Amino acid sequence: MVKNTELSCTINPPSFKNERLAQKPFKVMENIFQNNTNSNYTERIHELEKNFVYSSNSDSYWSEPEQSILYGTPLYEAASSSQKIALNHLYWAIQYSKVPADEATTIIFNQITGSVFSNLGGFGTLCQELELETSQEHYHIHAFQRISRLTKKALLCNKLKQSYLPKIKFNDRLKSLPNLNFLTESLKIPDFLERSSYSTLRFINRFMLESQGQKPGKYLQELENKNEFIQVPTDGIFSKFPFRRQTVQLLTFNFGTSPFLASHYYALRLIANMMLKNWEYNYAKYFRTLEKNAEFIPAPTSVSYFHFLDESFHTTISKTIAQDLYKVFSKPTAYELTIANMTLYLMQLNLKGLSGAIPYRFIQDDLSFMGFFYQLLQTPIFDLSASEALYWLEKCFCQEHEGFHLTFNHHQRLLSNLCQTFVDVEYFWPINREMRLMASGDNIGKSVQSNIKTFKRFSQSLAYL
Ligand SMILES: [Fe+2]
Ligand SMILES: [Fe+2]
Repeated sequence: MVKNTELSCTINPPSFKNERLAQKPFKVMENIFQNNTNSNYTERIHELEKNFVYSSNSDSYWSEPEQSILYGTPLYEAASSSQKIALNHLYWAIQYSKVPADEATTIIFNQITGSVFSNLGGFGTLCQELELETSQEHYHIHAFQRISRLTKKALLCNKLKQSYLPKIKFNDRLKSLPNLNFLTESLKIPDFLERSSYSTLRFINRFMLESQGQKPGKYLQELENKNEFIQVPTDGIFSKFPFRRQTVQLLTFNFGTSPFLASHYYALRLIANMMLKNWEYNYAKYFRTLEKNAEFIPAPTSVSYFHFLDESFHTTISKTIAQDLYKVFSKPTAYELTIANMTLYLMQLNLKGLSGAIPYRFIQDDLSFMGFFYQLLQTPIFDLSASEALYWLEKCFCQEHEGFHLTFNHHQRLLSNLCQTFVDVEYFWPINREMRLMASGDNIGKSVQSNIKTFKRFSQSLAYL
């Protein structure tokens, strides 16, 4: 994808203490940038999105049946073929309602970390690649949101109460290209509390990093000169972090100042890339099978396929920075090591648990989806009464079934891939290198027990509606 952007990076030849260490990542970054620039996957996604009409895609599966919500549950076994197709389409819509929050974070942090690399000089190709990725993410987000919205509208006929919909508020504000103001707009410091929280976090950054000779990137400097806050993304990969707003604000300063921590951000991004690839790869495989057999390919399947290809560039960049590039910078201080490892630990919260209703979704319990499914079962797709819906909900969430086993297997596969990926990253604490927090959620019995408690609370809460 060729994008005309004003390049903000210097492109002097890099000069590092250890030139040998820099050779491999620089070569990879050059190749990826060339290949990404020459590809047209983003344009294909944009075309598919523009022409998407649900009714033209409504009769076919968009993936193998196992990528359907409620797959493997007793209800799925009892469902008719038209209900199964609807569950298959809703899976796409729900999965891709979540992706934009992660990609919105990418948009912000590509800019924050890119300006740190730009400060150093010699990272012209990397900065251009990050700018290109940022522009691609805008198109991805827009396509996912439009297709998800139209699919949900067609299938659910607006029958769900907003409060029961899985949370997608951060993304739904994006209406048209290239309107991403909600991501990049800054907030004036609104009151005393916000100002003092900002000052404290800013002081920590000055004391721990800038006093050691590190300088904030241009992106942060410009905001500070204007006396403005950054509207930090608190959904996506940071959604499980405690004290989200303050924590992410501190990370914004830290990742926007220290080259080591800017590189470390790509370890977090790599985990998000691999989480996505864990299920999106199946759409790519399905696309190739249909193509080989010269069969009709539904537009959402094609969107997933081209997104998978676009993201393979992004994943390689994340991997190169996370595994190799960080080594060319000065050794991290104790503070930098602690921040890096704490963020990795918290990132594992995104992977701790197994969903019983959404294959490949790793959550601590199905609380956030229980209301959604309760409503779904009462829409024209299933047309159940409230008491029937509750009966099936308990059967699907609160007992072991094939759906849990499917997600368990893919959780294990991802766990093993992540451990292999990070095995040689020497600054990770063992708890992170071995992804021990993620591994602790690898337990169907625990997920079922957690759902039983949640279901009890949920059914009690219905009495108050
Ligand atoms: Fe993307
Ligand atoms: Fe991406």
